[in-house]
Amino acid sequence: MRTEQPKTIYLKDYEQPDYWISETHLTFDLHDDHALVHSRLSVQLNADKHGQALPALVLDGQNLELLSVALDDQTLESSDYQVDAHSLRLQPASASFDLAVTTRIKPRENTALEGLYQSGAMFCTQCEAEGFRKITYYLDRPDVMSRFTTTVIAERGDYPVLLSNGNPVASGEHEGGRHWVTWEDPFPKPAYLFALVAGDLCLIQDSFTTMSGREIDLRIYVEPENREQCAHAMDSLKRSMRWDEEVYGREYDLDIFMIVAVNDFNMGAMENKGLNIFNSSCVLAHADTATDLAFQRVEAVVAHEYFHNWSGNRVTCRDWFQLSLKEGFTVLRDSQFSADMNSETVNRIEGVTFLRANQFAEDAGPMAHPVRPDSFIEISNFYTLTVYEKGAEVVRMLHTLLGAEGFRKGTDLYFDRHDGQAVTCDDFVKALEDANGADFTQFKRWYSQAGTPRLAVEGTYDASARTFSLLFRQSCPPTPGQSEKKPQVIPVRMALLDAQGQEMPLQLSDESRAEGTERVLAVTEAEQIFTFTGVAEEPLPSLLRGFSAPVKMTYPYSRDDRVFLAKHDPDGFNRWEASQALAVEILQGLVGIHRAGRPLMLDQRLLDVYRTLLADSTLDPAMVAEMLRLPSEAYLVELADVADIDAIHYVRDWVRQELAVALEAEMWPLYQALNDQVPYSPSAAAVARRSLKNTLLGYLMLCPSGKALDICVRQFVEANNMTDRQAALVALVNSSHEEQKRAALSDFAERWQSFPLVMDQWFSIQAAASQPGALQRVQELMQHPAFSMRNPNKIRSLIGAFANQNLVNFHLADGSGYRFLADRILQLDPLNPQIAARLLTPLTRWRKYDEARQALMKAELSRIIAAENLSPDVYEVVSKSLV
Ligand code: ARG
Ligand code: ZN
Repeated sequence: MRTEQPKTIYLKDYEQPDYWISETHLTFDLHDDHALVHSRLSVQLNADKHGQALPALVLDGQNLELLSVALDDQTLESSDYQVDAHSLRLQPASASFDLAVTTRIKPRENTALEGLYQSGAMFCTQCEAEGFRKITYYLDRPDVMSRFTTTVIAERGDYPVLLSNGNPVASGEHEGGRHWVTWEDPFPKPAYLFALVAGDLCLIQDSFTTMSGREIDLRIYVEPENREQCAHAMDSLKRSMRWDEEVYGREYDLDIFMIVAVNDFNMGAMENKGLNIFNSSCVLAHADTATDLAFQRVEAVVAHEYFHNWSGNRVTCRDWFQLSLKEGFTVLRDSQFSADMNSETVNRIEGVTFLRANQFAEDAGPMAHPVRPDSFIEISNFYTLTVYEKGAEVVRMLHTLLGAEGFRKGTDLYFDRHDGQAVTCDDFVKALEDANGADFTQFKRWYSQAGTPRLAVEGTYDASARTFSLLFRQSCPPTPGQSEKKPQVIPVRMALLDAQGQEMPLQLSDESRAEGTERVLAVTEAEQIFTFTGVAEEPLPSLLRGFSAPVKMTYPYSRDDRVFLAKHDPDGFNRWEASQALAVEILQGLVGIHRAGRPLMLDQRLLDVYRTLLADSTLDPAMVAEMLRLPSEAYLVELADVADIDAIHYVRDWVRQELAVALEAEMWPLYQALNDQVPYSPSAAAVARRSLKNTLLGYLMLCPSGKALDICVRQFVEANNMTDRQAALVALVNSSHEEQKRAALSDFAERWQSFPLVMDQWFSIQAAASQPGALQRVQELMQHPAFSMRNPNKIRSLIGAFANQNLVNFHLADGSGYRFLADRILQLDPLNPQIAARLLTPLTRWRKYDEARQALMKAELSRIIAAENLSPDVYEVVSKSLV
């Protein structure tokens, strides 16, 4: 038990800071076992807030050894200030003064990977959200923006590369082999965007000419053995820079842009001004070692962090409740970019699949919170799917409502109006309103109301009046602290299809003539009817195209309607949606039948859809692969009130096998045609072909004919890229061919043992395999020399994959999976609270399971909360989960 309850912080309590810091001069003296940090701050009273009175200056600081404090060059006695575990407090004598502070920190002992820490042999930083206070005493809040100058001093031999934000302005040598570099960042920024790197790194260099003709020096720094794996990140960076100019009119502002890859990193990457620091998994990509999915992730994360330069850095957040201001907007920007670089429809399908299986589950769980939360204990816990992914959906809806042109006018005004400021989500929406004369007062409920809205739709055709009415009813389930919800603005992109699947002309009852065949209806009321006139025949509506709002929509489609839409809807996204919904309905029905102990029979309509897909050579292979993918177990759990995970797993596997057997004859020739042994290419077309080929391989390996085994082994051995090799390994590991499985796994480990990111894949494939005994395998793998509890990627790929992707084994009725996870969380919490808190997610979902499992899961949560010295991170998630 904690003796002192951590404090809750509320948005409504926001106040401006008492002081500003116009200039920040930092000097880092780096040594093997410690670092000395000298800071010199120019501090000014916030006169708007305080007039002439001088309040105490209270600086944030944590885990710091304070060595000296000087006010306007007068060294202070320790009786002149107060220090506690979180702050340094002193009384200024004037409204403007210089404060010099020296602290000693221990980067090597920093296992939380927040502040200044060591990853392998290099020094690096992660300051968002509140890591800077672990470096020196500061006003560590995003509304305090300051101009930074940073000097880094270290031994030249071990740390030839010394980096910080901005431009390098001076460098030199000290005696004894030490050298120094000074960096100056001309743009005022909050401390969370500060970065420092020191290490023995190799440099991959390129350049980019901006739209105004400025030449930017582009640099990626990695450890020397990774030199060959940077081309894709560099290429993605250049395409991001061009795209942001073309689509948002945003030009890069410094003369140099740097990316550094580090192996130990809590998240994906960080947008520090001019010096982005990345988890190596989001930079490194080579066809031999990275899958197509990993290539796409590198492209998306490089773009995301680059786009933050405007949406996040030039215009930043006033306080951390506004996190989605930069994250929601920037996720939208990176997904627009990815859609433009790849297939828009496939990109949207992937995004929606992810949102539904994960963010919807968050919305339905104990940690549910609005896109702009009202309160938190530990801000690190709010880097969530709701803030990021749902936040992006919210901005996407604004884009949908305004249209591309209106949205661009709005973002231009936003960047213009707020450049150099720390602002709120309200400021963002206001800029969009002002640029378009729009009123988003009601729309802003998306920022303040948590939960996934339900939208129940019904259609009525009146043949004599030739009208078709759509009745919309919206509601939103209660979430923690919000029992009542008000209606939200739900944009519904839609069309009406005739019996041939053609879009019909659309005319609403208050319009004088038909216009267009696709509309965005803005549903604003709890109950609302839209009536179309001049409707010549009974239509089938195609609703919520492109998932135009993050809601759970229902419409009383028959299974035949869904088959029709899956085959004929001109909107590719909704074709996929129809096939998904059909599969969901069939799987849910079979789960009920299985639980009742009755024999399973597959609805032939699913086969019919799949057969048609396989026969249609005009379709994008990536799209076919998406449509052939059954809804995930996680999504089926999310949709259930009480999920029977054993039944879901059994039925889903059974359907996959039925499909494989029934379609084996059609799948073979297609697999063979796609397996054409052409030289590897990373092009979108080649990626699409691999995606379908490997989806087919997964099915073919389920056929009792056993014909696929040799081919799978051959693909594993002969593949000229990691996508194909890994797909074959996954199929083998999930098969019952023990001998081939063992051989492939050991061959793979031997070959890639010195590639940590490849070994991450090796760990997750095994952790996610659903055969019995998974927990024991995971425990054995924890002993493998490539595993480490100190590396977040390893924890995610082994423990995270087991708890999040191996649902049948994690939810074993004896509670062993829960006990294992709780033990790991307790072991990890003293080392890395952020990662420990993230590992909790599957235990927070206890409401989805039967009573016996609920009791077991809650018992583990209770055991965790009873532990001594729990971090605020873990405490917050566990305590909220037990309410
Ligand atoms: N701003 C970073 C991004 O681009 C993530 C930083 C995460 N930090 C944290 N403490 N969780 O999304
Ligand atoms: Zn971000």
